[in-house]
Amino acid sequence: MFIESFKVESPNVKYTENEIHSVYNYETTELVHENRNGTYQWIVKPRTVKYEFKTDTNVPKLGVMLVGWGGNNGSTLTGGVIANREGISWATKDKIQQANYFGSLTQASAIRVGSFNGEEIYAPFKSLLPMVNPDDIVFGGWDISDMNLADGMARAKVFDIDLQKQLRPYMESMVPLPGIYDPDFIAANQGDRANNVIKGTKKEQVQQIVKDIREFKEANKVEKVVVLWTANTERYSNVIVGLNDTMENLLASLDRNESEISPSTLFALACILENIPFINGSPQNTFVPGLIDLAIKRNSLIGGDDFKSGQTKMKSVLVDFLVGAGIKPTSIVSYNHLGNNDGMNLSAPQTFRSKEISKSNVVDDMVNSNAILYEPGEHPDHVVVIKYVPYVGDSKRAMDEYVSEIFMGGKNTIVLHNTCEDSLLAAPIILDLVLLAELSTRIQLKADGEGKFHSFHPVATILSYLTKAPLVPPGTPVVNALSKQRAMLENILRACVGLAPENNMILEYK
Ligand code: NAI
Repeated sequence: MFIESFKVESPNVKYTENEIHSVYNYETTELVHENRNGTYQWIVKPRTVKYEFKTDTNVPKLGVMLVGWGGNNGSTLTGGVIANREGISWATKDKIQQANYFGSLTQASAIRVGSFNGEEIYAPFKSLLPMVNPDDIVFGGWDISDMNLADGMARAKVFDIDLQKQLRPYMESMVPLPGIYDPDFIAANQGDRANNVIKGTKKEQVQQIVKDIREFKEANKVEKVVVLWTANTERYSNVIVGLNDTMENLLASLDRNESEISPSTLFALACILENIPFINGSPQNTFVPGLIDLAIKRNSLIGGDDFKSGQTKMKSVLVDFLVGAGIKPTSIVSYNHLGNNDGMNLSAPQTFRSKEISKSNVVDDMVNSNAILYEPGEHPDHVVVIKYVPYVGDSKRAMDEYVSEIFMGGKNTIVLHNTCEDSLLAAPIILDLVLLAELSTRIQLKADGEGKFHSFHPVATILSYLTKAPLVPPGTPVVNALSKQRAMLENILRACVGLAPENNMILEYK
């Protein structure tokens, strides 16, 4: 059975006019490696740590500014939200299609809340805590191409033509602000597009972005803004001691107009200086150490990297399943071909390299979790190929071959073929990223013994379900397995309303 909403009644949860306050017992373990009677042993001590969570329930009017707004993802997301808001339906060759938010964790997935009369009861994910309704988001942003969003949508060739016709009047007047263009960081084949660019030094460019955000906020009367990079994949920046390794060095490099500071780093810098959450949806190392340092010192939310939309999402499910089943993947080969502008940009070796890196570490945590299968340092062969094939447009093809060792030296080969519009996968993920980033800035917590409430760590690992190469604070484990990432997110939100983590034990029926 499905219920639309629920309220938790518990001595541990208090609802006031402006917040939900919960007391939560976090069950965890402490490990020690000790010499007991002459031999070293691992001792595991279960521990309970009392936490308190405070969630501000005032949902703000939210503005979302996309870097690369006129691109395939930007125009698809903007059009998709307008279509939902306006209740647009359109004729396809199959049927009359209604706008929906399929593919969005917050808008289209469910959580289990319990059992009632022997039936499992589910509710929308978004019913856990008050979240911004995506229909109410005001969109804006930047692009190095001055094409309006209606023409951008037509250029993207993602939506059915009947839908495009209905959306056009809403999108024609949406024109991206000039972006920061540096041909050194993206493929040379993007040069023709760059007719809408901010001039000046890097410092002046950052100042312009700050000004843009303030003006957008004012003009649209939004209370909060989240900025997300969905512009072209850049090449990696060189991380150099003295240049971008610390906050001080990065800011000094900005003053010196150093060439190695990428446009995405400049956008992120502007946001951190304004305390605006910034999320990177592309694979490059926007978050150089000096920038992470700055975000931590200013307690400004940053999250990334690279949307986890298709092939990598499957990989982080399949390898988790295989290794979890005691099967040993030994060769993972992924071929992609796509014909959109992203594919054209990735056809240059430097930008492809960013994507290759971001796609390559995704199985590490799963492989490292099982030393019965893998010797220390052993790793499956893992190769990623991406080719630009204009004809297929945004409809990306992803083909994967997984070879695994099974019982008694047997070999098992699984082959997947995935075809679909890339932007239709990415757009709902962008939505989740901005909604969850906004929500997480309204949550405060404190552990027993901590004097006062604090926000989550500014490096937002809570978003890792949505990213291929989750950005984590220095010294924090990276979790790639999709089910663990989802459980982490859901269970933290459950804790905010005093609900136990979903443990799937269903002891009531045992
Ligand atoms: P796109 O090429 O259609 O859009 C990117 C837009 O960014 C273009 O309109 C371009 O003019 C603009 N742009 C480039 N540099 C800029 C700058 N410095 N400032 C402002 N605008 C700039 O690409 P698409 O398909 O929308 O993808 C966007 C990004 O998302 C790519 O980096 C891609 O790798 C990444 N991504 C996409 C996924 C998907 O499933 N669609 C999955 C994972 C990542």
